[in-house]
Amino acid sequence: MKIYIEKDYNALSKKAADIITDFVKKNSKCVLGLATGSTPQKTYDLLGKMYKTKKVSFKNIKTFNLDEYSGLATNNPQSYHYFMKQNFFDKTDVNIKNTFFPTDFAPNYKKYDKKIKDEGEIDLQILGIGSNGHIGFNEPNSNFFSKTRQVKLSKNTIKDNARFFKNKKDVPIKAVTMGINTIMRAKKIILLANGSNKKEAVFNALCKKVSTKTPASILQNHKDVIVILDKESAEKFTRLNNFAKSKIKI
Ligand code: GLP
Repeated sequence: MKIYIEKDYNALSKKAADIITDFVKKNSKCVLGLATGSTPQKTYDLLGKMYKTKKVSFKNIKTFNLDEYSGLATNNPQSYHYFMKQNFFDKTDVNIKNTFFPTDFAPNYKKYDKKIKDEGEIDLQILGIGSNGHIGFNEPNSNFFSKTRQVKLSKNTIKDNARFFKNKKDVPIKAVTMGINTIMRAKKIILLANGSNKKEAVFNALCKKVSTKTPASILQNHKDVIVILDKESAEKFTRLNNFAKSKIKI
C-alpha cells in the first residue's frame, strides 16, 4: 500500500488525476472502475481538462461504476448516471456505449460481475470512503466475499447522502453496489479521502485490524493500493503515528 498525504483537496485531486492520466496513457484500452461522490469530483474535472488540452484520450477505455441508487431515473440529477455524464463522460471522449452501471443489469446483478470478468477485470478502480468506512455501498458488516447486489443503506449513509437532496423523503434507502469481492478483484485501486469527517474511517481502514466493521480495511489485503488523503482526513492516522504498528508500508 502506498499512501500520499497531500496538503489539501486540490492537491489530492491533482495527484489522483495525474496517476489516472499516466495509467490511461500507458493502457489506452484499460477498464476503469469509477466512483462518484464529492471526493472524486475535482479529479474528474481535472481529467476533463487534460483531455481538452490533448494530454490524454479516453476513447478506448471501458468503465464500470461502483454503485448506483435504486429507484432513481438515470436523468435524475442525484443519480450516479447523471453525475458521471456531467462530470466525466460529457467532458471527455469516453464512448458512452462502453460505460456500465450495476443498476442497468437489474434484477440479475450477477451479470455485472460476469461482464466485468469478461472484460478481463477492472484494471484501475477509483474508490472513495464513507464516513462509516464503507466502500461503494458495502456498509459495515458486509461480507468480504460479496458480489454485486442490491443493498439497504445504513442510517448513517442515508444521513450523509441527505445533503444532496431537497427533501429527506427523496433520499434513496436502497442501492446496487459492486461487492467487496468485485472491488478486490481490481488489479489496482486508488482510494481517495478528504475532510475531517473521514479521519475516523481512514484511521480504522488503514491502522486497525482488517474487519467487516470497517469494509475499507479489506484493502490492506490488496496487493496494489494507492491511498491519497488530504491533511484533514489523514489527521488521526498521522497524529497517532501508528505507521509502525500497522502492517502498512508507506
Ligand atoms: C457514497 C458512495 C461511495 C462514496 C462515498 C463517499 O455514499 N456510495 O461510493 O465513495 O459514499 O462519498 P463522498 O465522496 O461524497 O464523501
